[in-house]
This record gives sequence, structure tokens and C-alpha cells, in this order.
Amino acid sequence: MENNSREQWGSKLGFVLAAAGSAVGLGNVWRFPFATGEHGGAAFLFLYLIAVVLIGYPLMVTEISLGRKSRKNPIGTYKNLAPDTPWWLVGGLGVITGFVLLSYYSVIAGWSLSYIFRSLGGFPEGIDAANIMFETHISGLLEPILYHLIFMVITVGVISAGVVKGIQKVVEMLMPVLAILLVAVVFRSVTLEGAREGISFLFRPDFSAVTAKTFLSVIGQSFFTLSLGMGAIITYGSYLSNKDDIPTSSIQIIGADTLLAIISGLAIFPAVFALGFDPGEGPGLVFVTLPAVFAEMPLGGIFGVLFFILLTIAALTSAISLLEVVVAYVIDEKNWPREKAALTVGGVIFLIGLPPILGYSVWSEATTFAGNILDTYDFIANSVMLPLGGALTSIFAGHALGSKNIVEEANKGATSVKIGNWVAPLLRYVIPISVLVVMLFGIYQTITGE
Ligand code: PFF
Repeated sequence: MENNSREQWGSKLGFVLAAAGSAVGLGNVWRFPFATGEHGGAAFLFLYLIAVVLIGYPLMVTEISLGRKSRKNPIGTYKNLAPDTPWWLVGGLGVITGFVLLSYYSVIAGWSLSYIFRSLGGFPEGIDAANIMFETHISGLLEPILYHLIFMVITVGVISAGVVKGIQKVVEMLMPVLAILLVAVVFRSVTLEGAREGISFLFRPDFSAVTAKTFLSVIGQSFFTLSLGMGAIITYGSYLSNKDDIPTSSIQIIGADTLLAIISGLAIFPAVFALGFDPGEGPGLVFVTLPAVFAEMPLGGIFGVLFFILLTIAALTSAISLLEVVVAYVIDEKNWPREKAALTVGGVIFLIGLPPILGYSVWSEATTFAGNILDTYDFIANSVMLPLGGALTSIFAGHALGSKNIVEEANKGATSVKIGNWVAPLLRYVIPISVLVVMLFGIYQTITGE
């Protein structure tokens, strides 16, 4: 059988680390803190945890099960499980999302990469100086393009080496480093004088800051941070064996991702509050506020370097999963060799990432209701494509394929935790309806600027 020749993870831990590596990324260290800062701290965290349980867990189990059942890329998965139907278009949406998401993800990862070297030279004092430094960097051409290129070359290199020799080896090496660096930065942050206020911001909810937009942000964050809604987890699940335990692995992946998001909050907010900066700075929180924090903090230079190394590592282990979605499709369906697929797809994604860079300088006039070019890519991927893909995956699993099939596949190889029929109403109604309502409302609000 052709399926027998498909590469499989070398160990159980290999899969869990790879999926956790995909999940833990800019979404945890960059997006989670600023979204939390904008939407009332603990209130956002509380709503996010509800979304993780009701939406994240069932969909994580579903995507892994779909992948293992079909042993294919996302398009192949739908073609295999629902032949001669248009469902493969959902897989197609996932592959396109992979192109869009990785193109700007790599640009932001490139900023992080360049900030490793900037921290070496020390950050200027004061928020205004930090702002100018960031604006000067992103509105340049050569540097952002160069770092975007370097990041894509590394990502392509890992994917070219294969599932076990590339992805698994890299995540096994980097995930522990990431955890250690993060703990080191947390330690520095919570031991600063005045850090307590930041800790209570993260854990004491202020529901008055919750608006309708908070819900869109919560849903978008859930999909983005757990790598759901575009088939990355389907693809990683396709390299699993029947002996692997899907319900428990899903708990471990989601647990690791959520823990790392909270720890990132603990690395950032205590320091931001201790030094009197604004937690609601928005997307600039990590690139503007934090450097200003590092500039004033004892040993800030060293912790700045450590922080941006960890941010870059987190982004890399996610970027490889994004590239793998498209590469797996090209290998499965077009029969290309892995290296050629990785290089070609990586090259195209590099080019798609150029407009967002130019949008900060020569194309700064090119704006939409969502903002500049990078904001627009992010809005399309994060607020439209991922939720739409997630809702459609849920409808497919709950109605077209039938949740019984998901339960059966998920429970093969399951030991302690088993999936019950309780997933049926979640997959059929709760997830699609809540996600689509919030998504449509969010799009309406963004377009009308309310
Ligand atoms: N989960 C990644 C993060 O939190 O940064 C982003 C991501 C990776 C989203 C892979 C989607 C995906 F398929």
C-alpha cells in the first residue's frame, strides 16, 4: 500500500514536541501578551481558556484524527475521506492560508531575528527612542528583506531534511532551549521591584474591558496559537502511527501551548508594570515596549538577547509546520521530491512576503480597512481564513464524515483518556455556529470601523 511508505515520527515525544512547537510561536510570545494587554488582562485569559476547552480541544483531536485516518496532506485528506465532493476545497483553503500566513509570519520573525543583534548593541532608553528604533527598522528595505530571507532559508533547510531528520530533530533540540530561556526571562521580570502589579493584571480579571471585539480576538487567538483551522495539525497527524494516543497527546499539546502563553505573559507584564509602561501598547508591545524595558532593567542587555533568541526559536518551530502543509501537498499530489518542493514553495512564500515589508515604506499609501499590507494579510489569515477553515473542518467532521468516525479514529491507541460522544454537539453546532457568528461580526465591525 502506498501509505506504508509515508514517513512517520520517530517517537511519541517527537510528534508531541513537533505539534507543540507548531503551536508555540509568535502567537504565544508576541500576540497573546498584546491581545491580553488590550482586552483587560485576566478577562481575556479567562475567555480564552473557555475557548480552548470548547473549541480548541475538540478541533485538535479532530485534525489529528483526520490526518492519521487519511495519511495525507489537507487537500488529499478531504479527497480521500469524501471522494468526489467539493470538500477538498477546505483543504485547498488551508494550503492557501499556509502561503499567506507564513509570508508575513516570516517577516515578523525576521524582525525578531534582527533584534537579537540589536540587543547586543544595547537598546536606547525611553519609549520614544524605542519606537523610533522600531519604526526605522521596519521602514527600511534591505534589512527587513534580508532577515525575512534568512528566516525563510532556515525554514526551507529544516523542511528539506524531512519529517524525522529535519522537523523532529530541530524541535527536540530547540523546544527545551526555548523553555529554559523563557523561565530565565520570567525570573528576571518577576523579581523586579513593582512586578506584582503586572502579575495581578494577568490573573485578576477586569470584565469592563471586554467588548464585542474581545470575542473575535479570543477566537482568532485560539485558532492561531493552536495552529488550527488550516490543516497544519492534519499534516502532522498524517505522520502518526495507529499506536499513538491522540486524546492524551492533544491535552499535552494544548497544555504546553497554554502554559507557554501564560509564562510569556509572566515574562512581559511584570517588567512592563514595574517600569511604568503601558500594557495596552498593541502589536508593538514586544518590539517597542520590551526593548524600552530592557534598556532600564539591570542586566537588560543580556535578557534582551535571550528574549529575542527565544522569540525567533518559537517562530521557527511554527514556521516549519506552516511550510510543511504546502510542501506535503506538493509531494503527495504532484510527486515532487521534498527538496525541490521545499525550495520552490519557500521561494514563492518569500516573494509573497515582500509587499508587507514594502507596506512600511514605499507602499505605505496602500492601505485597506484592516490597516497596511501586513495588517491586511494578518486580518485575512487570522480573522477570516483560520476561523473559516476551522468552522468548515468542524462541519465536515460533525456532519459529512460523522463524529462517530472521529471518535473511533481518536480512540485507536488511546490509553487513559478516551473521546466520548460529547464531541458530536460541539463539532456539529457549538463550534461552527459560535465561530462563524463571531467571525462575521468581526469582519463587519472591522469594515465599518466601529
Ligand atoms: N501557532 C503558531 C503561533 O502561535 O505562532 C502560528 C501558526 C502555526 C498558525 C501553524 C497556524 C499554523 F498552521
